Amino acid sequence: MLSLDAQVSTVRKASVRDVPAVQKLVNGFAEKDLMLPRSLSQLYENVRDFWVVEEQGQVVGCAALHVSWKDLAELKSLAVAEASQGKGYGRALIEACIAEARNMGVAQVFALTYVPELFEKMMFERIDRALLPRKVWTECVYCPKFHDCTEVAVSLLVAEDAPSGASRHLRLTT
Ligand SMILES: CC(C)(COP(=O)(O)OP(=O)(O)OC[C@H]1O[C@@H](n2cnc3c(N)ncnc32)[C@H](O)[C@@H]1OP(=O)(O)O)[C@@H](O)C(=O)NCCC(=O)NCCS
Repeated sequence: MLSLDAQVSTVRKASVRDVPAVQKLVNGFAEKDLMLPRSLSQLYENVRDFWVVEEQGQVVGCAALHVSWKDLAELKSLAVAEASQGKGYGRALIEACIAEARNMGVAQVFALTYVPELFEKMMFERIDRALLPRKVWTECVYCPKFHDCTEVAVSLLVAEDAPSGASRHLRLTT
C-alpha cells in the first residue's frame, strides 16, 4: 500500500468490493472511446491484477498489471476520474504496477495507449507494435477500432539487470 497524501489518498490492491466502482470508471471512459469497456465478469476474474486509488473512501483511479508471459506483462485499464486528474494518481498507479512486475520477476512491462506522453515521462519508450507477441492482441478483435487503431505501444524494462540499448525491448521469448 502506498500513501500519496497522508490519510487522504492511497494506492492499494483492489478487492472484489471495488469492482463496481472500477467498472463505472473504466466504462465511463470507454463510452468516450478512450479505453476498452470491461464486463463485471472480466473484472472479477482479473481482480487480482488491479490496483486502485482510494481518495476519501472513494475509488477514483485504477490500473491493472496482467502477466502475459514469463518475461512480459501488460499495464492496462489505467483510468483516473476526471475530478481527480492532475494529482499524480496516474503516475502512482503506473509506479505500483512497475514495482509489482519487478517483485514478480517480470522483465518487461508494456502498454497500448493513446497517451504515450504520460508513459514516456516514466521512462517507457515507444516500440513498434508489431514486435509484441500475437497473444497480446487477443482482446483487440473485440475493439470497435480494430481496423483503425491509433494506440501506441510503449515499453519499459523493469529487471535490474536489463541490457541497455534500443534493441533491448525486442527480446521477447514468446
Ligand atoms: C491518462 C490519465 C490516467 C492520467 O491520470 P492523472 O492522474 O491525471 O496523471 P498524473 O497526474 O499522474 O500525471 C502524471 C504526468 O503525466 C502527464 N499527463 C497526464 N495526462 C496526460 C495526457 N493525457 N497527455 C500528456 N501528458 C499527460 C501530467 O502532466 C504529469 O506530468 P508531470 O509529472 O510532469 O506534471 C487520466 O487522464 C485518465 O484517466 N484519462 C482517461 C482515460 C485514459 O486515457 N487512460 C489511459 C489509457 S492507457
